[in-house]
Amino acid sequence: MKILAIESSCDETAAAVVEDGRKILSSVVATQIESHKVFGGVVPEIASRMHIEAISGVVDEAMKKAGLDYTDLDAIGVTYAPGLIGALLVGVNFAKGLSLATGLPLIPVHHLRGHIASNYLTFPELEPPFMCLVVSGGHSHIVTVDDYTSFKIIGKTRDDAAGECLDKVARAMGIPYPGGVNLDKIAVNGNEKAYSLPHPRVEGSEFDFSFSGLKTAAINIIHNAEQKGEKVNREDLCASYLNAVTDCLCNNTVKAMKDYGFKKLALAGGVSANSVLRRKMTEFADENGWQLFLPELSLCGDNAAMIGSQAYYEYLKGNIASTHLNAYATMPIDNPVF
Ligand code: KG4
Ligand code: ZN
Repeated sequence: MKILAIESSCDETAAAVVEDGRKILSSVVATQIESHKVFGGVVPEIASRMHIEAISGVVDEAMKKAGLDYTDLDAIGVTYAPGLIGALLVGVNFAKGLSLATGLPLIPVHHLRGHIASNYLTFPELEPPFMCLVVSGGHSHIVTVDDYTSFKIIGKTRDDAAGECLDKVARAMGIPYPGGVNLDKIAVNGNEKAYSLPHPRVEGSEFDFSFSGLKTAAINIIHNAEQKGEKVNREDLCASYLNAVTDCLCNNTVKAMKDYGFKKLALAGGVSANSVLRRKMTEFADENGWQLFLPELSLCGDNAAMIGSQAYYEYLKGNIASTHLNAYATMPIDNPVF
């Protein structure tokens, strides 16, 4: 079954053709990073406009690269939630138009379910059940993937997402957007013990995260230094901060793996590209004899191939939308409606 998938939830306009949920026939990603960099973060209005400009060309290219015609396709998949509402609407409306014009079924895909599916593309042998740490710019979840379309949230952030925190502290240090990516590179040369940072825990909820206090602590270090006319050591602060953020992510995930008795752990989302997180999780997995699934780096960030993969499983489950499909800025992963 060949699915053309479209993703436009944030600052990447992407289209891909995926066969049977596992094989990428083409994948095209047009990033808007350069246009948002000057503002230090994604400007939603600019993102929406740029998606409108890019989407036709990106979809055409994905079809050409796959060497297919619309008559060769079996369905259209699209990210409909969660994300920036104006950005999502561009992809959803384009997909609706294609579905109407071709008569192909329209499959709504939850963005975070798509991120998890990037593991199915990287590891053809991976099947649920497994546990997954989903860490992106907007979400930090520990979920059990009980089946391809059945998820349980074990823990989530009570405030900021991990990616958001990395981006904000990077910005306070004058590191260009996208902060998390650049912070990862700068941290390589730093001493992770140089700055002492808190490891916040959520009282009474051992699997939930709270990153805002940690973010504020790092920003205070930067501001205090500025007020004294001093400069922080960027390499050391990046390394120390990344160490603290990844410690929090790992501690809760490792505990959840043990408590729930899982032997398979996957990472997903933009932050799963982080080198420190990947290294620490690999160590924990080796120590505990777990199988660890780390998505290929090119599939960690937003792309449409992961949406095409998840769309296949949503289709098999009968999750097909009408052309009244709407986009939603927020939507739970475990009980989405469309
Ligand atoms: O999943 P994603 O591409 O978009 C959302 O769905 O939000 O995640 C983007 C987030 C950003 O916060 C970005 O800074 C972060 O992922 N990120 C990283 C790395 N690559 C991307 N954070 C740390 N280290 C990286 N290598
Ligand atoms: Zn994402």
